[in-house]
Amino acid sequence: MMSVSVIGLICIWVCGAIALENGLARTPPMGWLAWERFRCNTDCTNDPENCISEKLFMKMADLMVSEGYLSAGYNIISLDDCWLSHNRSKSGQLQADPNRFPNGIKALADYVHSRGLYFGMYEDYGTLTCGGYPGILNHLETDAKTFADWGVDYVKLDGCYADPSEMDKGYPDFGALLNQTGRPMVYSCSWPDYQIEKGIQPNYTFIGTVCNLWRNFDDIDDSWASVSSIIDYYGDNQDTLIPAAGPGHWNDPDMLIIGNFGLSYDQSRAQMAMWAILASPLFMSVDLRTIRPEMKAILQNKNVIAVNQDELGIQGKRIFKKSGVEIWVKPVQPSLGNNRSAAIAFLNRRTDGTPTRVSIALSDAGLTSTSGYKVQEMFDGLNLGIYHPDNTLTVVVNPSGVVMVKCTIQKKKSIVSKKKLIGR
Ligand code: GLA
Repeated sequence: MMSVSVIGLICIWVCGAIALENGLARTPPMGWLAWERFRCNTDCTNDPENCISEKLFMKMADLMVSEGYLSAGYNIISLDDCWLSHNRSKSGQLQADPNRFPNGIKALADYVHSRGLYFGMYEDYGTLTCGGYPGILNHLETDAKTFADWGVDYVKLDGCYADPSEMDKGYPDFGALLNQTGRPMVYSCSWPDYQIEKGIQPNYTFIGTVCNLWRNFDDIDDSWASVSSIIDYYGDNQDTLIPAAGPGHWNDPDMLIIGNFGLSYDQSRAQMAMWAILASPLFMSVDLRTIRPEMKAILQNKNVIAVNQDELGIQGKRIFKKSGVEIWVKPVQPSLGNNRSAAIAFLNRRTDGTPTRVSIALSDAGLTSTSGYKVQEMFDGLNLGIYHPDNTLTVVVNPSGVVMVKCTIQKKKSIVSKKKLIGR
């Protein structure tokens, strides 16, 4: 994820001060982000285990490694709001709250790096962060340099207390300053989200040359209703959002809330599958000290993560929506000529209590190679057999749940095999 591509290097070299594309995040970034689960809890006196403090991030960094999240691909650990002191230092630099981060941010970044992880920072383009701490406006150059000095690898730049009409200049300016430090830093923007809120249509073509990822919709919270509303937004706006995404520049539907309080087991699988289909950044926001094993297994599922991280970087599309059932398709590797393999998510939004049977002919999902496809269910890795374009794939999907399959294109014509039905 972090390796600077040749294109990026050439650009940093030749384009000098105006370099925007940084060559990073060729696949969707993956990591852990504090906000959804830990919020702005600054009360370390009464809640020392859960407050926003260096202790919390160090513990999560340890668990990212010891519990297998790093090996699964989650390699960034990031601050969110409320890490700051309310005042800048005498020399005008941002500083962490001295009681909650007594060793300062550089020491925390060093600790995170010593665990083999990248370190993420949160700030805000405006005068204040959303939580009311100092923002970067009027200090852009100093703050970009401070982040580089601290060893930051990833910057989430929020957009509270700022004028959205000025963001078309402000976000690129700060992106260029980050690049000028010479330290590779993934740039996560909230620019389109704040513009949409104010009725401004974001210029995604331009945003994609500046930011590695960007938010465009509401904050996720701990409920299936919230996850559902995000999926709807991505389906309803797919003609604008799909062309905006690709290697190095991703739409960000917000954090994974799997393992918290609001989602059932099936809903958790559904969020994971949909975020994979959407080529979304995968940032867990969950207490890794207490997560249940079955939720951890969903977050670490290798098949589903591989779909998310597919090198083509194509965001999936909703191709069917009727009576609470949706079918989403994401083209993935391997390819045969112009034909690609695909991941398909069958999403059941119904709540009428009994699983729903859903069928589709492979050709209706855009899978037309006459050599056929090996169809595999993703969560449990079940092999469903070989299908040809005119064969009908039938799955049974639990209420507010998902079935996700990958159809891998065959290099040579394969014989249709006996079909197994997936689902209960
Ligand atoms: C905004 C962002 C959230 C989080 C909070 C912090 O609402 O969208 O992701 O960073 O600010 O205050």
